[in-house]
Amino acid sequence: MRWMDAPRPIMALSPMADFTDLPFCRLVRECSGKEVIIFREMASAEAIIRGNQRTDKICELDPVEHPVVQQLFGSDPMAMAEAAKIVMQAHSPDGIDINMGCPVPKAVNQFNGASLMKDVERASEIVKAVKDAINVPLSVKTRLGWSEPGDVVEFVKRLEEAGADAIEIHGRTKTQGYSGIADWEAAGKAISKLSIPAFVNGDIIDDITAKEALSKSGAQGFLIARGALGRPWIFKRIKESLETGKDPGDPSIEEKMEIMLKHAEYQVEVYGEKGLIKLRKHLPWYFKNITGFRQFRADAVTVSSIKDIKELFRKVLSRSA
Ligand SMILES: Cc1cc2nc3c(=O)[nH]c(=O)nc-3n(C[C@H](O)[C@H](O)[C@H](O)COP(=O)(O)O)c2cc1C
Repeated sequence: MRWMDAPRPIMALSPMADFTDLPFCRLVRECSGKEVIIFREMASAEAIIRGNQRTDKICELDPVEHPVVQQLFGSDPMAMAEAAKIVMQAHSPDGIDINMGCPVPKAVNQFNGASLMKDVERASEIVKAVKDAINVPLSVKTRLGWSEPGDVVEFVKRLEEAGADAIEIHGRTKTQGYSGIADWEAAGKAISKLSIPAFVNGDIIDDITAKEALSKSGAQGFLIARGALGRPWIFKRIKESLETGKDPGDPSIEEKMEIMLKHAEYQVEVYGEKGLIKLRKHLPWYFKNITGFRQFRADAVTVSSIKDIKELFRKVLSRSA
């Protein structure tokens, strides 16, 4: 079954550079269940073609991650197609996604990411070329437009005509970056014109926002990015809430600590000891609202061993006692 044909509403982990890597995605799968579609962080098509080892590592998958979609970024249709082929051969994800929404200057200045919204011809060429190169579904993740929120309507229609199998829309323009609030209705205006499945993204953090985003956009599902950081169980919580009308809430502080230790263990498995340094940026997300959060955050950026993490937990528990 194609990932976009899974039962509705489809719930997906949105791609986040430096965050949705193997250890975190594995944890999301284990804490949130088998239905979640996992989107891996963007990988550079040019780097994949050059055989860059770091980029190849970014695309490495654990078998439990399926169904999983690998996102690519780039601006040259042939290079994107070549990179998609290489990734398929080496790692067999269940889908390839193209980043046409990243607003960071490094992406935009090289005519990829969000800048593709200003060049629909090139964007369509990329879709055609990649689609011809792979035998799994091809999706595109984009925004409402460069600066005009209505631009996405025509843009995604053209991508559908070029052969895209699904579209994900973050309800902000490139100019907005992450400011303001995501406009799910504006995403819906584009979604209503498409025949292919389309998904809404931006500011979804729980069952209430998920329901509202789905009803305002008419999307077949949603993607969550920041709302899943430090909350790898979020999809299970939302699913239960939507199905039963009862929100099971977050795990207890002790359960969260167990999950964090598992996260640490996976980091070390994948990256060796330096995995714990890479874990530092995740830790504050787990305890966003605890008493003494500022101190916790300051301590979290110094951990370099499991012993340090356990010491951090001891401090949290003694403060909350
Ligand atoms: C740290 C970070 C890294 C991100 N990296 C990517 C990326 O690699 N590819 C992508 O399409 N979007 C990326 N995004 C955008 C998110 O996938 C998502 O569209 C955006 O954060 C809005 O959703 P949210 O409100 O659920 O966070 C990133 C966002 C964050 C915060």
